[in-house]
Amino acid sequence: MVFTKQHKWLDTRVGWCVVLFLVHFLAVGAQDPDTLPNTDGIPASPQEVIALLRFKHTLVDPRNVLVSWNESGVGACSGTWVGIKCAQGRIISIALSSKRLSGSIAPEIGNLVGLRKLNLHDNAITGAIPTALATITTLRGVALFNNLFTGTIPTGFGSLPLLQAFDVENNDLSGPIPSDLANAPGLNILNLSRNNLSGTIPAEYGAFQGAYLDLGFNNLTGPLPENWTAPRLTEFYVTNNNLTGSLPDGLGFVRTLKVLNVAQNDLSGAIPPSYGNLSALGTLDIRSNNLSGQFPPSFASLPLTGLNVTYNNLSGPIPAFATAFNISSYQPGNPGLCGFPTLLACPLLSPAPSPATPEGAASKGKKLSTLSIVFIALGSALGLILLIAVIIMLFCCCCRKRAAAGGAAGGDKPERSPEREADTGGRLVHFEGPLQFTADDLLCATAEVLGKSTYGTVYKATLENGSHIAVKRLREGIVKSQKDFTKEVDVLGKIRHPNLLSLRSYYWGPKDEKLLVYDYMPGGSLAAFLHARGPETALDWDTRIRIAEGAARGLIHLHQNESIVHGNLTASNILLDTRGPGITACISDFGLSRLMTPAANANVVATAGSLGYRAPELTKLKKATTKSDVYSFGIVLLELLTGKAPQDVSSTDGALDLPDYVASIVKENWTAEVFDVELMKGSNAPSEEELMTALQLAMRCVSPPPADRPEMDEIIRSLQELHPRERFQSPRTASEGTSA
Ligand SMILES: *[C@@H]1O[C@H](CO)[C@@H](O)[C@H](O)[C@H]1NC(C)=O
Ligand SMILES: *[C@@H]1O[C@H](CO)[C@@H](O)[C@H](O)[C@H]1NC(C)=O
Ligand SMILES: *[C@@H]1O[C@H](CO)[C@@H](O)[C@H](O)[C@H]1NC(C)=O
Ligand SMILES: *[C@@H]1O[C@H](CO)[C@@H](O)[C@H](O)[C@H]1NC(C)=O
Ligand SMILES: *[C@@H]1O[C@H](CO)[C@@H](O)[C@H](O)[C@H]1NC(C)=O
Ligand SMILES: *[C@@H]1O[C@H](CO)[C@@H](O)[C@H](O)[C@H]1NC(C)=O
Ligand SMILES: *[C@@H]1O[C@H](CO)[C@@H](O)[C@H](O)[C@H]1NC(C)=O
Ligand SMILES: *[C@@H]1O[C@H](CO)[C@@H](O)[C@H](O)[C@H]1NC(C)=O
Ligand SMILES: *[C@@H]1O[C@H](CO)[C@@H](O)[C@H](O)[C@H]1NC(C)=O
Ligand SMILES: *[C@@H]1O[C@H](CO)[C@@H](O)[C@H](O)[C@H]1NC(C)=O
Ligand SMILES: *[C@@H]1O[C@H](CO)[C@@H](O)[C@H](O)[C@H]1NC(C)=O
Repeated sequence: MVFTKQHKWLDTRVGWCVVLFLVHFLAVGAQDPDTLPNTDGIPASPQEVIALLRFKHTLVDPRNVLVSWNESGVGACSGTWVGIKCAQGRIISIALSSKRLSGSIAPEIGNLVGLRKLNLHDNAITGAIPTALATITTLRGVALFNNLFTGTIPTGFGSLPLLQAFDVENNDLSGPIPSDLANAPGLNILNLSRNNLSGTIPAEYGAFQGAYLDLGFNNLTGPLPENWTAPRLTEFYVTNNNLTGSLPDGLGFVRTLKVLNVAQNDLSGAIPPSYGNLSALGTLDIRSNNLSGQFPPSFASLPLTGLNVTYNNLSGPIPAFATAFNISSYQPGNPGLCGFPTLLACPLLSPAPSPATPEGAASKGKKLSTLSIVFIALGSALGLILLIAVIIMLFCCCCRKRAAAGGAAGGDKPERSPEREADTGGRLVHFEGPLQFTADDLLCATAEVLGKSTYGTVYKATLENGSHIAVKRLREGIVKSQKDFTKEVDVLGKIRHPNLLSLRSYYWGPKDEKLLVYDYMPGGSLAAFLHARGPETALDWDTRIRIAEGAARGLIHLHQNESIVHGNLTASNILLDTRGPGITACISDFGLSRLMTPAANANVVATAGSLGYRAPELTKLKKATTKSDVYSFGIVLLELLTGKAPQDVSSTDGALDLPDYVASIVKENWTAEVFDVELMKGSNAPSEEELMTALQLAMRCVSPPPADRPEMDEIIRSLQELHPRERFQSPRTASEGTSA
């Protein structure tokens, strides 16, 4: 298998072609992203125009792409010049990718003193990268990849304070790697791969400031830097060079490292024991070197999901990684390796890195599968009697009426927000958190629509540095006055909890457009994950219970610490945070009603439709309560257990909603059928008792009388008891029956 390198620039690369000036777009109220303005109408200064025309002249343009760059110089900033964007009479962006351009870049480009982006990738431009380019202090992004540039990389880029991305991958650049780029303060992505760069990697790269560093497929020699203090380094590639020496011990202290790829070099010596400390390391590729010795003892605990050590000279026992790798990760090329999955048994006294317990794992798997077989077959009469008893208890009153109604409410705890910034006539306010961007950055972001909700449209926006944010644009005419909005939004911006989506910033634009900025959750929503995933993505019991428990913790925090009733909890606004180990549930869309006018809220409630999550009492009471949130939570739990969406069942078999559906199946003694079949598969399958406890809990949550529904802390306790075993590890390492 070849490791697939995820291309950090992909979004940005595409984005540069269709840069969505989100904020201006909103201000203008345009509907079509293709008609976005790329200028503020202020004409370009003569020096800039001259520089641009010079730039045009040294390029060869066989398709006449640059015909709109009128030789008279008129209209450079009128929005009609292809690939040009302006602000305040300065050229801020040149984007001419994939235009079959050749020729070279004129040094006069250095006169474009406001340039932020130079995007010329996928052309056939030759010649040197002009030294003058490295003097433009406003420069943020340089994308020259897939061209034919020659010569050396000029020094000076490392001193540009705003430079975020520098990608010259796949050219014919030669000479040394400039040491100053390692220290560029704002640099996030540096890609110099697939050139003909030679010499050693400067020691300065041990203190690389960015997150992504790719020096692969060059002609680099000598050792890797010895001392490492890189604060953010996440992915490091030096694959396919001629590096010698040993793997530096110091790299083991770069705890942020997720990908380490040193494949196809001449590195020798052993894997340093310090690498056992790389607690985020997901991919390790050291294939085709000359490494020897044993895996360090602490290695088994690494969260590796990709491993290739083939073609070295490693020996000794293979660690019991949480993800078991097959033989193609290890052999050929390491005749001395022993233990699973090689056929060689390790000598009894060899110091095993971490004792695997194949017997324990096997017997556990066997036991569980026996249980599930018994259960699926409904062979257990005792179980059935138990079930019936429980069910009778639960469903003595089953007449339900539901309709769309409800609302959300909350207490108040107003506090002021910490940090403010004025920009472009609008107002961007950041709350506490790691996101750092200006209104300007938001303006330069690429955006795509993620979805629409009753309160507005949600976009996934990609900032210049490649990071993603979620931006919710609130509908016009439903928001309170700016003063009241500010007061309420400041409260929401303070809420921080691992199971609640953090509001990071808001923007109130010059034309009263309102944007809320949140963390972007790459895992998407629970609804999408549960109902629209491919057959290859399994969703096992522990994950489901952990999602439920996470959502419950988020909800209880809202209720008890923030005095906020969610009012609209659904599987669609439980998002999945996949940034850490495992999946964490993250509730979104809470507290938004506080930002809206009462009239808008009533209207939203009326048009929201029932969707099957609304508590029955909300037809009469217009105000959601903590107990109606418990009801919605119960529906989500039923959804996790049955694998069915509330919308799916509303018309089948006369059932009105998910609780009715479950009740009808259970009544007919088909209880086992109610559960998602996927739950019964695999060695992580829950026991019958566990399934029943969970179902019982869910059905209590959806009891028609609000008073019969359990309290949130009781729900959390019950859920905790449902996953006492750390079973989300692989069957190979999981030990049986240890309680948390
Ligand atoms: C490891 O690398 C070798 C050599 O490139 C390749 O044949 C093998 O498929 C790789 N194995 C995995 C699991 O990537
Ligand atoms: C650098 O460019 C190469 C070639 O496109 C790509 O495969 C790689 O993922 C990039 N590296 C980073 C760190 O983005
Ligand atoms: C270029 O500008 C001149 C002067 O404004 C105008 O006469 C001419 O038509 C323009 N040419 C093109 C190709 O737009
Ligand atoms: C790479 O650079 C070296 C000089 O450093 C030069 O001799 C060699 O021809 C170059 N190779 C290619 C393929 O350009
Ligand atoms: C690598 O660099 C050496 C000199 O440093 C040169 O002789 C050799 O041709 C280069 N290799 C390639 C593939 O360019
Ligand atoms: C690495 O750091 C040590 C101690 O800080 C120092 O003695 C050594 O010279 C450094 N090595 C290099 C190559 O900079
Ligand atoms: C680097 O390795 C390649 C392939 O093994 C070889 O052709 C090249 O001569 C080596 N260059 C140096 C400088 O060792
Ligand atoms: C791992 O890190 C700890 C704390 O920094 C350190 O004491 C320990 O020596 C490291 N382990 C190895 C194997 O380097
Ligand atoms: C591999 O490393 C050993 C020492 O560990 C050395 O003797 C041998 O020459 C190296 N082989 C190559 C091909 O570099
Ligand atoms: C492999 O490593 C062993 C020691 O672990 C050494 O004796 C042997 O020479 C090495 N083989 C090669 C081809 O480097
Ligand atoms: C080993 O795993 C890789 C993916 O990691 C897969 O492509 C390959 O087919 C597997 N090989 C065997 C023999 O199972």
